[in-house]
Amino acid sequence: MNIKLSFNDKNFATREAVVVGVYTKNVELKGKGKDKSKKKTELVFHHWPKDMTEAFHKVKTSKNFKGGQGDSCEFNLPSGATIVALGLGDKEKFTTEILRRETASIFKQFKKRCEELAFDLDTLLIHNMEQTISICAEAIWLADYSFETHVSKKAENTLKSTVFMSSQTKAKEKKIELLLKNTQVLCESINLARDWVNEPPNILNSEEYAKRIEQDAKNIPGVKVKVLGKEELKKENMGMFLAVNAGSAYKPQLVHLTYSPKKATKHVAFVGKGLTFDTGGYCLKPSTSIANMKFDMAGSATVYAAFRTLALARVPVKITCVLGITDNAINAMAIKPDSIVTARNGKTVEILNTDAEGRLVLGDCLDYVCDLEPDAIIDAATLTGACLVALGSEICGLMGNNQKLMDKLLSSAKACDEYMWQLPIIPEFHKDMKSPIADLKNIGSKGYGGTSKAAAFLEAFVKKNIPWAHLDIAGVADNQSHLPYTPKHGASGLIVRTLVNYVENV
Ligand code: BES
Ligand code: MN
Ligand code: ZN
Repeated sequence: MNIKLSFNDKNFATREAVVVGVYTKNVELKGKGKDKSKKKTELVFHHWPKDMTEAFHKVKTSKNFKGGQGDSCEFNLPSGATIVALGLGDKEKFTTEILRRETASIFKQFKKRCEELAFDLDTLLIHNMEQTISICAEAIWLADYSFETHVSKKAENTLKSTVFMSSQTKAKEKKIELLLKNTQVLCESINLARDWVNEPPNILNSEEYAKRIEQDAKNIPGVKVKVLGKEELKKENMGMFLAVNAGSAYKPQLVHLTYSPKKATKHVAFVGKGLTFDTGGYCLKPSTSIANMKFDMAGSATVYAAFRTLALARVPVKITCVLGITDNAINAMAIKPDSIVTARNGKTVEILNTDAEGRLVLGDCLDYVCDLEPDAIIDAATLTGACLVALGSEICGLMGNNQKLMDKLLSSAKACDEYMWQLPIIPEFHKDMKSPIADLKNIGSKGYGGTSKAAAFLEAFVKKNIPWAHLDIAGVADNQSHLPYTPKHGASGLIVRTLVNYVENV
């Protein structure tokens, strides 16, 4: 979707359709007796031209428009232009997330209704023009996504372009154009990640996935890609990663990407879980839980999308991105419960549940990136169903070994309006992950606290002096139907924005 900027422009009459924000405010009505402090909600027409406010009030149905979030009221100017009064609720309570959601909703409503939709930014302003533009653009480009790769008849939309108009002068145009360009790269990266997560497992197997990443990364200036296959993983002594891949028809693939700008003084490493399908292995998932396990590679797609965005934006930070890619399948060679394997760091692990496979792949990948001595490691994984039990499907779980790093991630999540909540790793959880017959076991003894215990397991593969944070995206990676800028079903693309914000401010 094309977004055009039009500054010094308040010329609604010549447009086809313009979205214009309307707020509400509570006013006290001074009455007598019982009615002493009656409250009334009034509409606030902030930055509306006078003649347009008059046109609005002339429309008889406009009296039913309350201006609440999600309300809208359409009317026409004598020129034929459609004005969409978009309710944004109480002006005092207006937030960036309200703007993002409302922009996405109204955009989707008009995709089949006009050819050009304009947004009057003066009436939608939050904080400043830059932020308003990047939020509205984000909302539009993210809401515009649909996964249609495998449908023969693609949806037909009439909408060709959107226009951001503002009465502001052109003074900051160059800066704003760059901002818009970066937002576009971010949204394209998120949509690419969504495509990969949505792709079915018979098509996106480990080898195909690694190929697509390599192909995409080739087009990012200054990025190096290395793919380690089965033989290389053997040489690396990645016994846990190889154990998960043992029952697969496809090679394991460790994709190692490096973006190393000259000016960099800091080095951040991303690690992502890339299970192209998780059957559970011999601890086979029942049919209700196996469904949709193609999404078990969302962690890898998430960190790759952040890496891609940052590298294309030439952010002056060195970034390593390591993706552990395989499926968890069953054949005669597949790893059996009770097996003991040796991890890359030398620790022995009793695999009591073949469905707790993500931590095995990630553990070896974490040890591998520790050798590169980054200043911080952040991993993302659809690691535990328990995360949905603990936090619900709308919140990303955060754990780690360094409070400073976790606080930074929490504030990045807040700045991006993404939900993230920290869970503790206590010494008892580490103890629970010890095996009587090996150094570790891959599941806890008691059924509770599964998300933190998985993190406790991962921590055993991180060098103590390296700050590390673990993001459990099992809930947020798909089906975020409450968000108008994510598809109702399938990959959400959430958490990419938080990771990008973190590195931009590192
Ligand atoms: N990929 C799953 C986690 C998952 C489950 C994500 C459901 C989203 C929804 C992971 O590999 C897994 O199977 N975890 C097990 C761990 C258990 C065996 C300790 C789980 O959560 O049931
Ligand atoms: Mn599993
Ligand atoms: Zn899994």
